[in-house]
Amino acid sequence: MLKAILSRKELSENSEFYSYIGDLLNCRDIRELENFAHHIGTSRLQHSLNVSYYNFLLCRFLRLDAKAAARAGLLHDLFYYDRKTHERIRNRHPAEHANVALYNASMRFSITELEGDMIVNHMWPATPHLPRHAETFVITLVDKFCASAELSSYLWRRFCEKIKKSEKSAMTKLRKFRQRI
Ligand SMILES: [Fe+2]
Ligand SMILES: [Fe+2]
Repeated sequence: MLKAILSRKELSENSEFYSYIGDLLNCRDIRELENFAHHIGTSRLQHSLNVSYYNFLLCRFLRLDAKAAARAGLLHDLFYYDRKTHERIRNRHPAEHANVALYNASMRFSITELEGDMIVNHMWPATPHLPRHAETFVITLVDKFCASAELSSYLWRRFCEKIKKSEKSAMTKLRKFRQRI
């Protein structure tokens, strides 16, 4: 079941959104992103879906190209290495992975000039070139919003786990105390 972060809706329930990305989602090269951790506490596929969905919603709301927004969102982090262990690229990752993603996307799928601009400049202002389209400015914001939401949700999960653990140990201590009195 695929859902975007903070959303209760199954992604396939949104037929317009799904019609834009369904073909990509069925590709092994996209599904493989599930095997890579991204930021903290999520997979690269989940992050890409998050960006794709919110990018689509925001661009549609702003009457921009919602189809390009959904597709570029799903492809914007299309790279297959762990940034922490990839020696060659480690220090230049913020700017470099967008170029790698554009190369990978254009080798595998047919992408438009607009989608290419969104992918290669999604890290702006960490990348040197100014985005050429309004949709690209949108994806730069959505990407950062999703990364923050993913990190917050991870920290919240950890916090809840800790509370549960300490509740459990308090209950165990209480039970032991009652047995003694
Ligand atoms: Fe990225
Ligand atoms: Fe991203």
